[in-house]
Amino acid sequence: MDDNTVFDETYFKALHRRTFESLYDWAGEYRHFNMIKGATRFCQGAYVESASHKLFAEFEQANYLKNTGISKGEFVRQLAYFKCELIALHPFYELNGRITRLFFDMIALYNGYRYIDYSSIAPETYINASIQCVQFADCRAMEKIIADGLNLNDDE
Ligand SMILES: Nc1ncnc2c1ncn2[C@@H]1O[C@H](COP(=O)(O)OP(=O)(O)O)[C@@H](O)[C@H]1O
Ligand SMILES: [Mg+2]
Repeated sequence: MDDNTVFDETYFKALHRRTFESLYDWAGEYRHFNMIKGATRFCQGAYVESASHKLFAEFEQANYLKNTGISKGEFVRQLAYFKCELIALHPFYELNGRITRLFFDMIALYNGYRYIDYSSIAPETYINASIQCVQFADCRAMEKIIADGLNLNDDE
């Protein structure tokens, strides 16, 4: 990552591929089958590609959150919205949680924050916030998790 990094769909897929290609030959490939976790049904496999294009087009409109100068509250709100959309998309067979957190950590770093600290969040709190995102299109619980874990990088 450097100043010219564009956090677009190509970058997102490549991040999954480059991080996991030594482990799985489907790294960086979207799923084409349906997936559920618990009572949650993620985006249908047949629509993952088109839904992802649409989401990243919206993300481009938001300038990939490379908005120097917006308040922390506004940054958290926008980041939570796009993170919830990616959680609902669940585009890969596995490792969506890890790659989604890494992706938004990079965006946080780009904007002068530290990586988002989830260490004080209980796993079930995170899953419940994800359930709110996917089943009820409500990103407020995830927004709170991000607000609590996001801090400016004062070391710079
Ligand atoms: N029951 C659920 N409802 C909605 N989202 C869920 C549920 N369980 C897990 N998730 C979401 O899916 C992510 C895990 O997806 P997964 O592909 O297994 O990634 P990883 O292996 O990196 O944890 C979690 O971080 C959470 O955001
Ligand atoms: Mg997993």
